Amino acid sequence: MRVLVACEYSGRVRDAFACRGHTAVSCDLRPTESPHGWHVQGDVLRLLDRQWDLMIAHPYCTFNTLSGVQWLSHPEDSKLPFEQRRRHPRYPNRLDDFEEGIRFFKAFQEANVKRSAIENSQPHGLAMSRLGKYTQKVQPWMFGCPESKAACLWLKNLPLLVPSHTEDDYEKIHQSCWRMGPGPDREKERSRTHAVVAAAFAEQWGCL
Ligand SMILES: C[S@@+](CC[C@H](N)C(=O)[O-])C[C@H]1O[C@@H](n2cnc3c(N)ncnc32)[C@H](O)[C@@H]1O
Repeated sequence: MRVLVACEYSGRVRDAFACRGHTAVSCDLRPTESPHGWHVQGDVLRLLDRQWDLMIAHPYCTFNTLSGVQWLSHPEDSKLPFEQRRRHPRYPNRLDDFEEGIRFFKAFQEANVKRSAIENSQPHGLAMSRLGKYTQKVQPWMFGCPESKAACLWLKNLPLLVPSHTEDDYEKIHQSCWRMGPGPDREKERSRTHAVVAAAFAEQWGCL
């Protein structure tokens, strides 16, 4: 299977497919952290029209996430319909950045690939009104690791991932990302796909 892993610098999903015998290529503006795999450093939009059997994309979600929705518009306008709200006084460009992010995400939704999964953190309502609701939300604890880090998936011609575990299998589930302190690399450090989720993609979708 020829697999494109778009917007991945960690190499986790790419390597999970490659070690199961697939031809897997990751692409990101950043260099890969796992240099033994096949990585293209550059704009992934230039690779979308190659003949991929499966694409897994992790577009940046800075302006789509529920946790950042308060920065999208003026704090005094939160009760107004979105189109009537003023721009945020501290982040006047945020709405333009949001629109650019939507265009980027839609490029993956519209790519001519038979099967695809697009992954983002929990989106806010405005983002879902533009992108549609995600198909499935997965967590590392669903695949054997006692951690929570929600990943929302928009699936095309792919079955839902089947969890191997339930919350009842653990005494405690850790929210590892929330414990991460501030710093220049915080966003990068928080954005790596969890290894057990990457393995579930490859195990369950690599055999289709
Ligand atoms: C949320 S992170 C995803 C990280 C991924 N889950 C991983 O494990 O490596 C989004 C990534 O999109 C990349 N990116 C943004 N625009 C891009 C573009 N036009 N082409 C390729 N990668 C891009 C960023 O560099 C960033 O690493």
